[in-house]
Parts: sequence; structure tokens; C-alpha cells
Amino acid sequence: NDIKEKIQSFSIENEDELEAFRLEFLSRNGKVQSMFGLMKDVPNEKKAEVGKLMNEVKNLAHQTFENAKVELLKSEEKEFGALEDITLPVESTYTGSYHPLNRALNEIKQIFLRLGFNIADGPELEDDFHNFTALNFPPDHPARDMQDTFFVRKSEEEQDLVLRTHTSPVQIRLMKEKEPPLRSIIPGRVFRNEAVTAKSYFQFNQVEGLYVNVRVTMGELIETLVMFAQLMYGSDVKYRVRPSYFPFTEPSIEMDVWWESEKGGQWLEILGAGMVDPNVFESVDVDSEKYTGFAFGMGVDRIAMLRYGIDDIRLLYDNDIRFLEQFKS
Ligand code: PHE
Repeated sequence: NDIKEKIQSFSIENEDELEAFRLEFLSRNGKVQSMFGLMKDVPNEKKAEVGKLMNEVKNLAHQTFENAKVELLKSEEKEFGALEDITLPVESTYTGSYHPLNRALNEIKQIFLRLGFNIADGPELEDDFHNFTALNFPPDHPARDMQDTFFVRKSEEEQDLVLRTHTSPVQIRLMKEKEPPLRSIIPGRVFRNEAVTAKSYFQFNQVEGLYVNVRVTMGELIETLVMFAQLMYGSDVKYRVRPSYFPFTEPSIEMDVWWESEKGGQWLEILGAGMVDPNVFESVDVDSEKYTGFAFGMGVDRIAMLRYGIDDIRLLYDNDIRFLEQFKS
């Protein structure tokens, strides 16, 4: 009974106390073991009764020890965070993905690299000469209007710069820099002063194309564009080529592809193109008697929106992670 009380009043609140309890009661020289050693002094007729009591004390000691051990483990778990199931996989961290614009752009690049074009670029901040004048825009052309173009003022004396309204000014830079033959595509961001809606934005992306060589023909232009449409939209793509007008190409065309959606089919304009206007060659000192060339320009945003079923262009520029996360391949 004396031992029983000692067991019950023993406080076990940490590992050290648990070990002290084990040493005092349960070890080979512990109180429980020595208690059984007293058995030999117990008169025979009392042995059964005393043995039963001793067993009770022994069980109590073991129970107390096991319970205390479990309690200690539990409080440790609380302290060091949940150890409930260490076999669960860790929560994976966020990994990036290609932006839908970059995906569409990469496809376009791959196609034109196959067709023998290299990739060039130019500045987003342009001057009037590259963006308009050298491209044969007359001085009163409406595209120069404040409504369409973002102008950037440097000083009172200097002419305003423009955020390029298309990638065509890079045609001018390439032709001034190098002698033909030239065969480049020019991807890039362009800017127009338009109201922001689901369908239009103040910036978007274009891919310009330029091929200048001896005896480049309209036939080659159309062949190149048809090849592009087939590689981009599938070999069974339905397309049409319409006459159009741009100041810097003559003749000028536009290409449409047939697009099927839930709302039915419709013709969608995918690019403008044409033969480089001799006035453009003249502004960059390329001999238009010797060389001819073709150029085209297409919108990347439209392609990405069609391809991935995106119905609001603003989503492409918000960089909302919930939107972007959907484009993991
Ligand atoms: N720059 C024209 C546009 O932005 C597209 C174009 C490029 C047309 C090259 C013809 C040749 O609409």
C-alpha cells in the first residue's frame, strides 16, 4: 500500500521524470521487484492474498508508466506541430507556366524558322520617321491622329516620339542596317490609344514579316501565308485572301481563316500583307529596280484568344495567377 501511494503521487511531466519513475519502480533493482523479494518472508497461508496485492501494484506501475509515455508524446506533437501522418506528401510549391501569348508566339516562331526566316527586333519607342514617314504614310494620315497614337514628349524643341503603333517600323531599321537578301520575322509589342474593352486594349502583340530579294513575287507571298495558315491551323484550314490597302505595301491583301465555334462559323482576319511599296525602298536607299519584297503583319493576341478560348483580351495583361495557372501544359 505504501508503494501504491508512491506510484499514484509520482508526477511525470517530462522525459527525465518518466525515466526516474522507471528506475524507481520498474527496473531490476526497483521497488516493484524488491517488493516481490519480500514474498519469502510472508507466511504460507497469506502468500495468495499478498501475491494478489503485489500483482495489482505491479500492474499499476506498468499502467502508469505507459499512460505517462503516451501523454508525453501527445504534448510533444502539439509543441512541434502535427506529426499525425508523416507519410503524407508535402504540398507542392507553385511552378510557373508559359503565358498564353508566349505559347502562341512560340508556335508562330517555330513555323517561320522552318520557312527560313530569322528573328529580329526593334525598339518600342519610335520616332515619326520609322513609324510613319518612311512607311509612306502621308502627313495627314489619320493614324497619326492623337486618337490612335501615344506620343511621348522629350522637350519643346524636339519632335515627339511615338509608342510604335505596329511592328512595321522595324522593316525600316532592318533595311537600313543590312543589304538584301533579308528574311526576318519581328515579334513585338505595339500600342494604340484605344478604349479598353473586352475586345480592344491599349497594347497588343504583332509578328511582322519581311522578305527582300531579287525577283520576290506576290505568288511567293501567298504561298508563304498559305503554308503558315496550314501549319498553324491544320492542313485542312479554310482560308481566303482579299485585296486591301496599306500605305507601305502595293498591292496589299488581307488573309482570313474560317473559324468554327459554338456560335457557328465565321471568317476571321488573321493578317495584313503585301508587296513592299517602291516608296518604302526609296526611303531606305534600296534599289527598287533590282529588288522586290513582301511584308506581312499579324496579331498574336487574337491567335492566342482563339486557340485557348479566351474571350476578354484584358485577361492577357492582368497577370492574375488564377488565370495563368490554367495554362500548365
Ligand atoms: N502594320 C500593319 C498593321 O498593323 C500590318 C501589315 C504589316 C500590313 C506588313 C502589311 C504589311 O495593321
